[in-house]
Amino acid sequence: MIQIAKPLIEKEEEQAVLNVLKSGVIAQGPKTEEFERNFAEYCNAKYAVAVNSGTAALHLALMAMDIKEGDEIITTPFSFIASANCILYVGAKPVFADIDEKTFNISPESIIEKITDKTKAIIPVHLYGQPCDMKDIMKIAEDHHLLILEDACQAHGAEYENKRVGSFGDAAAFSFYPTKNMTTSEGGMITTNSKEIAEKAKIFRNHGQIKRYYHEFLGYNLRMTDICAAIGIEQLKKLDKFTQKRIENAQYLSDKLKNIKGIEVPYVAGNVKHVFHQYTIKIENGKRDEINKKLNDAGIGTGIHYPIPINDQPFYKKMDYNADETPAAREMAKNVLSLPIHPSVTRENLDYIAEKLREILK
Ligand SMILES: Cc1ncc(COP(=O)(O)O)c(C=O)c1O
Repeated sequence: MIQIAKPLIEKEEEQAVLNVLKSGVIAQGPKTEEFERNFAEYCNAKYAVAVNSGTAALHLALMAMDIKEGDEIITTPFSFIASANCILYVGAKPVFADIDEKTFNISPESIIEKITDKTKAIIPVHLYGQPCDMKDIMKIAEDHHLLILEDACQAHGAEYENKRVGSFGDAAAFSFYPTKNMTTSEGGMITTNSKEIAEKAKIFRNHGQIKRYYHEFLGYNLRMTDICAAIGIEQLKKLDKFTQKRIENAQYLSDKLKNIKGIEVPYVAGNVKHVFHQYTIKIENGKRDEINKKLNDAGIGTGIHYPIPINDQPFYKKMDYNADETPAAREMAKNVLSLPIHPSVTRENLDYIAEKLREILK
C-alpha cells in the first residue's frame, strides 16, 4: 500500500527523545523553549508559544486575542473542523465565507459580504499548504479593524510573496500532528509579533497562573512536553528538505496527470510557495467515490479533505448552519481527492499512481 501520509522519524529524533528521557525533565522545560525560539525564527515571527495540538494553538490564540461571546469570526467551511470549533470554544460565533474554486481557500469577496458590526476577526486557513490571498485579506482586516488569526496548521514553511506564513496576521496556529509536513507526535505552536498575545497565551496554556499557584484567569493545561519538543527541534532542521521533496513529487505527478480527461491537477497561484501538505485533485462530477475505491483496491492510499463542509456537519446543522450559503465549498467536498506525494513516495510510486488513474479514467 502506498500510504497517504507517513511521518519520517529517524535516528536524530530517536536520540533526541532518549536524551530528554535520560535528563529527567520530561514535561515542559528547556527543550520546549529551544523549539519555540527556533520555530519563531523560522517563521520570521517575534514570538512562538508551544502547545499540545494545533487545536489548542487556535483556541489559545483566540483567547489571547480577547475574542469572546457576542463576537463573530469569519472562516472557511472547507477545512478540518478545528478551524471553526475553536471559535465556539471561546463562546463566539463562526460565520462561514465561501471558497475560491481554484485554490480551495477562503474567498476575499465572500469575506466582505459576511462582515457585520459584530465581526472581530478572520481565520484564513492556508489549505493543503497553499497560502490564502493575504494581500486582499490584510486589506479587508485593515479597512474594517479586524484581527487575523492564520490557520497555518497545514502550511509550515509556505510563502506568500516571498514571506513565510505565520507572521502575516496578529497570530498564527500550526499543528504538528503525525500527518503534517513536520511532526512532534501531537503538538502545536502559536506564532505572533505581539508580546501581549504571546504572554497571555503562555498564561492560558498553564491554568491562568501568573506566579506559582496564583491563578489570575481561567486557563487550561495545554502545555507541550520536552519529549515532543525534542522531536520538533530535529524535524524543523529537516523541514526544508521534506518540503522540497513534496514540491518535486507534486510537480512530477502534475506533469503526468495534466492531460488525463476528467481530472484537474492542483492550481498553484503565481505569488506563493505551496508546500503541498496535500496534493488534491478535482474529479469530474459524481465520479470521485468510485475512482477513490478503485485506487484503494490498487494499493494506493488516498484522502478526502474534506467530504463534508463544516457548516453541513451534524453538530453545526443542529445550530442551524448549512452549506447552502457556501455552494462552492459544498461542490468541492463532492469532487476532491488527495493523492500521496509525501517525502517517502518514490518516482516509481508516482508512475504507478498516474498509470492507475489513466487506466481507471479511460
Ligand atoms: C486546517 C487545520 N486546522 C486545525 C487543525 C488541528 O490540529 P491538531 O490536529 O493538531 O489539533 C488541523 C489538523 O488536523 C488542520 O488541518
